[in-house]
Amino acid sequence: MGKSSKDKRDIYYRLAKEQNWRARSAFKLIQLDEEFDLFSYEDPAKCTRVVDLCAAPGSWSQVLSRVLIKGESFGRRAWIEKQSKLFGKQEDPALDKLEKLSVSEGTGSVVAETGKSSAASQDEKILLPRENVKIVAIDLQPMAALEGIVSLKADITHPATVPLLLRALDPDYEDGPMTETHRVDLVISDGAPDVTGLHDLDIYVQSQLLHSALTLAMKVLKPGGKFVAKIFRGRNVDLIYAQLKLVFTRVHVAKPRSSRASSIEAFVVCEGFKPIAGWTPEIGASIRTNKPASTTTSGKQRRHVREDGITELEMETAYDYAERYIAPFLACGDLSAWDADASYKLPEGHVSLDPVQPPTAPPYKAALEKRRMDGGAYGKTKKAVKDPKSQSGDP
Ligand SMILES: C[S@@+](CC[C@H](N)C(=O)[O-])C[C@H]1O[C@@H](n2cnc3c(N)ncnc32)[C@H](O)[C@@H]1O
Repeated sequence: MGKSSKDKRDIYYRLAKEQNWRARSAFKLIQLDEEFDLFSYEDPAKCTRVVDLCAAPGSWSQVLSRVLIKGESFGRRAWIEKQSKLFGKQEDPALDKLEKLSVSEGTGSVVAETGKSSAASQDEKILLPRENVKIVAIDLQPMAALEGIVSLKADITHPATVPLLLRALDPDYEDGPMTETHRVDLVISDGAPDVTGLHDLDIYVQSQLLHSALTLAMKVLKPGGKFVAKIFRGRNVDLIYAQLKLVFTRVHVAKPRSSRASSIEAFVVCEGFKPIAGWTPEIGASIRTNKPASTTTSGKQRRHVREDGITELEMETAYDYAERYIAPFLACGDLSAWDADASYKLPEGHVSLDPVQPPTAPPYKAALEKRRMDGGAYGKTKKAVKDPKSQSGDP
């Protein structure tokens, strides 16, 4: 699909380029924040330390940087400001609180985009950078630098990534548990495998990424912290919700307007982290309740050979697995927002822009280089010239 055609069929792809986002995913995070106040708009000090997993090319990190470091207005704050403009200032106690905070704290960080003071009119955008912000981004792929963000090239499914992350958050960290002051308020993960089109396999790999992201989150989150992760809604997804419900007070599944309705993608939004006492999360281990089972004996196995020769192995464990849980489903993003599944007419004189940040080292880089060396798409051009048969006119 050409760039122009994609601009037409994918409004968020076009808007991302026009608004300088590295990927259209930025809108998903913004719309999730609109609904769930992930960045604690009402109490900014409650969201200053964030981990962005599977972050490349970096549009979620850009949102974090623009909201937390630069103090720009997106998501919940932008939505409330818009409501306040539509319905009058009296209806907006949260904005009042925010403005009072910015004046009374006198942090020197409050800047109006117009260059005037924070007493500027509502029509002007007030920048409110937060203090002591720490953002760490991790991806398998290298990520082009973003101001104020520490980025790590690592695999979130590998246990060796845990100490790397802990050290990135806390340079004084040495092996052992993390100090409470260095824990984080929010962990977000937009991790996705390279999809194969085999739904069951894609869903399985995606769930492994989610479990690794959750394990990292459980290692670094403050009690009460939040976790957001991409999920593919497969057949047994309620088991994952149930596991999440063991360690979070509230678990929702959300579908932002910018995520195509036709895709099985959604996001789990988990709030109120409650660590399990005496249990250390490890990558590769699943979450279980601490409750001993009444009828089973630990450590026993039972083998059963079926008629077709397949051996079934039953494991008895000392733990009950979580019961199933149906997470409330929320569509989020303003209803007047663009529809990700619709095609929109391009504006008069539209010029198709290049992506803001092309992938630095995509996994398909070698294939692209080979194709270029072979002389174009599928190597047809060059081979046709080199092939002696084709030069002799043979079919
Ligand atoms: C949909 S993209 C993320 C987009 C990103 N949130 C943004 O806004 O730009 C999914 C990312 O997951 C990363 N990923 C997949 N498996 C991973 C793993 N095991 N460890 C770290 N990153 C992984 C991929 O490299 C890819 O960059």
